[in-house]
Amino acid sequence: MTIDLQQLKTEGLLAIKAAKDKLELANLEIKLLGRKNGELTNILKSLKDLAAEVKKEIGPLANEVKIILESAVAARHRELSASAWENAAAGERLDITEPALPHLDPGHLHPITQVGRDLEDFFAKLGFMVLDGPELESDYYNFSALNFAADHPARDIMDTFYIKGHDPAAPAGAGWLMRTHTSPMQVRALQKYGAPLAAIVPGKCFRNESTDARHEHTLYQIEGFMYDTDITFAHLKGILEAVAKHLYGPEVKMRFSPKFYPFVEPGVRGEVTCFLCKGRGCRVCKNSGWLEIFGAGMTHPNVLKAGGVDPAKYQGFAFGLGLSRLVMLKYGIEDVRLLESGNIKFLEQF
Ligand code: DAH
Repeated sequence: MTIDLQQLKTEGLLAIKAAKDKLELANLEIKLLGRKNGELTNILKSLKDLAAEVKKEIGPLANEVKIILESAVAARHRELSASAWENAAAGERLDITEPALPHLDPGHLHPITQVGRDLEDFFAKLGFMVLDGPELESDYYNFSALNFAADHPARDIMDTFYIKGHDPAAPAGAGWLMRTHTSPMQVRALQKYGAPLAAIVPGKCFRNESTDARHEHTLYQIEGFMYDTDITFAHLKGILEAVAKHLYGPEVKMRFSPKFYPFVEPGVRGEVTCFLCKGRGCRVCKNSGWLEIFGAGMTHPNVLKAGGVDPAKYQGFAFGLGLSRLVMLKYGIEDVRLLESGNIKFLEQF
């Protein structure tokens, strides 16, 4: 009997150690220790026929063998679990020496953003603040505060999208609209910061257009203004000439011609020599040799008053650069609608 138990222990331990997987181990456990027909159970069952002294000797030994085999099964079970996890992890292993996968195209900034940011840096170096303004604007800031008379036809060339309701912060009757230009920020900035003040305002504007290659419902402008006690037209010219040279190189020439804008007096249209034909005349400049890139002028006293600033003490200039137009001219884009199209084939070129 003792010999049977010793043998069961040695052979059982060897078999348990050799079990290749959990299924084999489970079967082995049943074979050795199973309650119904396990080998150890059978030995224990046969004890009842033995003499009491033998039972006393064999009983504890059988128990010891049982505990040894049970813990060997548990240990082997743990080993198999660990190696199963390792095998799974091996498939997942990260090889940091492996060459990187090629990047999927990460995208890039829209050409409007690229040119806009370049100009923001340019003006920031000249000491201008860079401000943001609301796209949903009130009729008051978009027109009335900028000296547009209620029935002036200048409003008609800037038809826009009117939104229901009225701006509680503006004088009574001023309804909401999508701003047609960035100029309303002249008054908002004056009200907030007072004079002296120098700032630019890049942003999105809206017009109710029947769209075609030259007209779009959404366009981008950069407004700029400078107010102080001794600002003259020469400052306006100096700053805008610097902008033109920055954009088109030192050779570029600039010219002004009179143009009406209700918020400036005098008002001008600003043109630069066509960078493509150098002023000789081509398709881009429609054979004129000149390209219109901004409107500008000396700020009307009514605008300063609306901003809460005394026009007897302060004066200044304002300009509006057509950012969409600058981008079209820079890259020779012939259809303005491409800028808002989200067309990947178009955008990938910049
Ligand atoms: N806001 C004008 C427009 O959208 C452009 C403009 C003209 C802005 C003259 C100005 C200015 O500041 O002085 O057509």
